[in-house]
Amino acid sequence: MNRRNFLRSLLIFLGSTALVSFAYPLLRFLEPPGAGAKAVKVIIKKGDIPPGAARDIVINSAPAIVINIPDKGFIALSKVCTHLGCLVDYDSTKKRLVCPCHAGVFSLEGKVLSGPPPKPLLKYAVKVQGEDIVIG
Ligand code: FES
Repeated sequence: MNRRNFLRSLLIFLGSTALVSFAYPLLRFLEPPGAGAKAVKVIIKKGDIPPGAARDIVINSAPAIVINIPDKGFIALSKVCTHLGCLVDYDSTKKRLVCPCHAGVFSLEGKVLSGPPPKPLLKYAVKVQGEDIVIG
């Protein structure tokens, strides 16, 4: 290998390395959150949540809540407020979800009733299979 070929090979190697070191973080940044992670399903027993009650769960590393709405069935919502990310609390007496940070209020279906949240709570798919509730 002469000097010219050696320098050309070295330049190609360094250029490729620089391109990959810039492209990989850019692609990771552009990828939607959770796109690379495998969606996980959570299974809980129907009997664990009587009508009007709720249970906190963690789905895909995010806090969520499953509510048994009387006459409507089970619903699973993210507990992360869409305003600034505080965790909402279930108010069983007033039948709503309340954010303690800036008084955002959501319906049991996750819709914004009042306060600063700009959009509804994230809703997870729920399937009732026999005695199990499958979320996610
Ligand atoms: S973070 Fe929930 S209302 Fe502001």
